[in-house]
Amino acid sequence: MKLSYLYGKLMKKLQGTCVINSNIDKTSVVGTNCNVVGVRMSRYSYFGSDCQIVNAEIGAFCSISDHVFIGGAEHPLDWVSTSPVFQNTRHSGPSKRIAKFDLPKSKKTIIGNDVWIGHGVTIKQGVVIGNGAVVGSNALVTKDVLPYAIVGGVPAKTIKYRFPKEVIDRLEEIQWWNLPDEKITEVVDLFHIKNPSLEDINRYFPDNHNVVGIVCVCGGGKYQNINKLQ
Ligand SMILES: CC(C)(COP(=O)(O)OP(=O)(O)OC[C@H]1O[C@@H](n2cnc3c(N)ncnc32)[C@H](O)[C@@H]1OP(=O)(O)O)[C@@H](O)C(=O)NCCC(=O)NCCS
Repeated sequence: MKLSYLYGKLMKKLQGTCVINSNIDKTSVVGTNCNVVGVRMSRYSYFGSDCQIVNAEIGAFCSISDHVFIGGAEHPLDWVSTSPVFQNTRHSGPSKRIAKFDLPKSKKTIIGNDVWIGHGVTIKQGVVIGNGAVVGSNALVTKDVLPYAIVGGVPAKTIKYRFPKEVIDRLEEIQWWNLPDEKITEVVDLFHIKNPSLEDINRYFPDNHNVVGIVCVCGGGKYQNINKLQ
């Protein structure tokens, strides 16, 4: 291994990361130089480096790349000034006398399960991203994203869907992300089939399988409501 590579890795590690008031599952990873505040993240998800994530619920099996901003603060648009010096926050700085007003409460952002968020994405606070969705690199997401949609652009628009509707509906029904590891191990070959058909999925989940009420790992059940966006 090259010395310069190891040096780069070490320098990245030294940058550290800041996680406050958050609950990150032990199987999940927060990259270097991230600022994570008020975040709950379920199993097998990760943030890359240089992310800023505030007041968010993140499902399981999510892949969140570098330089992603989720739930950034909003300044008041309808006050005489948008400047935070009028708010009672750490930004008040030397102008304490005019820092009179409470900060408006931020809205929680919800990211479903098995969501892939590309490099450099910004997601506005309060947005709900459906299970299985993909957000293309450098997108600015201002509106909710439907399950299994692929969105991109500024502002983000739907480019296409990952699978046909009947497959999406079945995956939403199965909610495989809520299964315990042992059950996922049993059906793991399904995860290697390209463009799986309904028949493929039903081969691995033959009955009217729905994990709701059977197993719920790391709060995954919280995301059931986002199945109903359509
Ligand atoms: C969104 C994405 C997943 C789509 O991949 P794809 O299906 O192979 O996309 P294609 O190249 O076939 O493009 C399909 C259409 O979407 C557009 N598109 C692709 N990526 C886009 C993006 N990030 N933003 C806006 N539009 C995008 C293409 O221009 C094309 O438009 P057209 O149909 O009008 O010609 C991919 O482009 C992307 O952004 N991946 C993220 C990469 C990344 O950030 N990696 C970091 C490491 S995790």
